[in-house]
Amino acid sequence: MAAVEAPATLDAVAALAELAPIGADPVRGGWSRHLLDGADREMRAWFVRTAEALGLTVERDRNANLWATWAPAGAVGPAVATGSHLDSVPGGGPLDGPLGVVSGLAAVARLRAEGHRPSRPILVANFAEEEGARFGVPCLGSQLLAGEIDTDRVRALTDVAGATAADVLADGGVDPAGIGHDPARLAGLALYLELHVEQGCQLAPLGHPVGLATSILAHGRWRVTVTGRGDHAGATELVSRHDPMVVAAAAIQAARSRAVAADPVTRSRATVGKLQVVPGGSNAIASQARLWVDARAEHDADVRALVAGIVADIEAAGEAEGCEVTVSEESFSTRVQFDRDLTDRLDAALRPAFGEVPRIPTGAGHDAGILAAHLPSAMLFVRNPDGVSHSPHEGASDDDIRAGVDALTDALRALT
Ligand code: GLV
Ligand code: MN
Ligand code: MN
Repeated sequence: MAAVEAPATLDAVAALAELAPIGADPVRGGWSRHLLDGADREMRAWFVRTAEALGLTVERDRNANLWATWAPAGAVGPAVATGSHLDSVPGGGPLDGPLGVVSGLAAVARLRAEGHRPSRPILVANFAEEEGARFGVPCLGSQLLAGEIDTDRVRALTDVAGATAADVLADGGVDPAGIGHDPARLAGLALYLELHVEQGCQLAPLGHPVGLATSILAHGRWRVTVTGRGDHAGATELVSRHDPMVVAAAAIQAARSRAVAADPVTRSRATVGKLQVVPGGSNAIASQARLWVDARAEHDADVRALVAGIVADIEAAGEAEGCEVTVSEESFSTRVQFDRDLTDRLDAALRPAFGEVPRIPTGAGHDAGILAAHLPSAMLFVRNPDGVSHSPHEGASDDDIRAGVDALTDALRALT
């Protein structure tokens, strides 16, 4: 009699080690994996290969998101979906994104191996361009799926080399004419549960390896272009300069001081993390500075008020320096309150192994936040000992990574 092969399993720690060489950034440190660049394609190929080896069926939707499906006999109706993203910020950490994808695959593999018979399909998603590092708009794949972004605008977005999103998608085999709202696919999802490394440090002091999300701060990104007059650093009198870098400095300072002033009431934060200087010579006054303001706060109106104050300060600095200032909104994500019923169900599923699981808010954006407006969504966080993220120093212990997979497995078992 032929031996029946046991379903394969996946160790999340080993899988993350396998991914570590992909997109390792020798210049910035950490990892740089951006929509359909070489590293992202390798990550996607790993996803397809690994999910198929685990017995799942993989497809790409028309918005460049990947879906691995486990739908054994008897699993019917809208699916329970988990997952996250495999792209990164420039020079990011190893876990923001991949942890949720790898844990999703590991949890499904474990359920298969233990003989679980789900009543509905389970999907593991890899959402495209969650960080928006290539085209500036975060959660691009989930926003397109949910019909939350204008497709003409997306096709026309350009990366730093001037390539359009339309061209990059087409080159990756995604028809740019077909992107956008996918109601049929959305209707096939009963709920979405995203596991993510904690960003911030709330779980460590509480002594818990996992937590459940309550809410996401409202947040957005604004592009500021300051145009002055390029000139010689030695030959130009100080009084006759129109230096956009002086205005950029004021913008950076305004972001900090406006956020500090508003923070005690509104949990405000504002950051300039990206600055481009034209032409960028050390002995030349710049002709243009482009910078991006990332602003977040508890409520949508708090973010709007914060940004209005920062922009007023930048415009005043521009006028004083004789520079032109233009500001455009690249993205805005409204405050998210995660589904309370689903979170309560997760709490009950985790209680036998994890006791009372802390519920914590987050300042980071996620695809789960986009989907929350369309279907019950929730998040599970894995303890990050010092809270650092969007940095090569982001981390979680191997024990906590495995505890996260345990928790996700318990959750998916209970939900299906
Ligand atoms: C994504 O991680 C964001 O919060 O910017
Ligand atoms: Mn991130
Ligand atoms: Mn993320």
